[in-house]
Amino acid sequence: MSTLTGKHVLRTDLLSNEELELIFSTASRFENALRSGARLTNMEGQVLATLFFEPSTRTRLSFETAMLRLGGQVISMADPKASSTAKGESLADSVRTVAGYADVIVIRHPQKGAAQEAADAVAVPVINAGDGTGQHPTQALLDVYTLRKEKGSLHGLSMALVGDLKNGRTVHSLVYLLARFGVRLLFVSPRGLEMPPELNAELKKLGSDVSEGRDLAAAMRESDIVYVTRIQRERFDDPAEYDRLKGSYVLDMDMIRQAKPGITIMHPLPRVDEIAREVDAYQGAAYFRQAANGVPIRMALLALVTGRE
Ligand code: NCD
Repeated sequence: MSTLTGKHVLRTDLLSNEELELIFSTASRFENALRSGARLTNMEGQVLATLFFEPSTRTRLSFETAMLRLGGQVISMADPKASSTAKGESLADSVRTVAGYADVIVIRHPQKGAAQEAADAVAVPVINAGDGTGQHPTQALLDVYTLRKEKGSLHGLSMALVGDLKNGRTVHSLVYLLARFGVRLLFVSPRGLEMPPELNAELKKLGSDVSEGRDLAAAMRESDIVYVTRIQRERFDDPAEYDRLKGSYVLDMDMIRQAKPGITIMHPLPRVDEIAREVDAYQGAAYFRQAANGVPIRMALLALVTGRE
């Protein structure tokens, strides 16, 4: 039993420092166990339900892998068109039903606040796998876990975050954790896709060192890490506006050669065209290692919220 037992995981700003350290140390323990080929049985007899009302590759499959690696079982709704949502069932009713089948629920939904709404409807732990433009806390946890593995300590680091900072839920979750660890933040976005003002105000309140600009190359000269994000096409009402902004930033090897030496490149993926393929061979390109770290982090979360770590 830990302080996370029975809890929902909805936002990064609701996690205590102790909870963060517990998640990272548990993930590291599970990662080592996986590497040594151990068969884990923490979640034996337990069922995870993954409810995805939006597309996903990594988040759903790594949660399901995490559950299977812990000896648990999985039921999955990956296509809302094939579920009773298509008949007009409310989210609360769907989730209440699934809570009768499963011990823990992972949900992704296009609406901001949907994970909270789901959590309010049930007693089993609910984990937010992305609520519209809101948050994506498990991504932020695996991002910080990756950073620690790639860089050692976060102390004194600077990170450039580039792309769709307005709509990107991964950055909305990540900046709270980075602010807490004292990472200097350089926001780079096209006009109109800046970090929401309310979030900037909260970061200021947390005493975070934040600057904003449009010049990615300049930010990369001052940064130890660059976190690249996709322009979130599905959040645009006007397709012409998306067409105008897509391709605003494309990180390539030329930019890396002019950047701070040893710069680490991160991306929550999927990538569209914002990182040139040639960058994949660069040793500081961490995005596929980052995706793999989703498994131990999600193993830790599943085990901790069910008290089976
Ligand atoms: C992200 C998401 O869904 O917010 N994907 C992911 O989970 N790694 C990022 C994105 O879709 O751009």
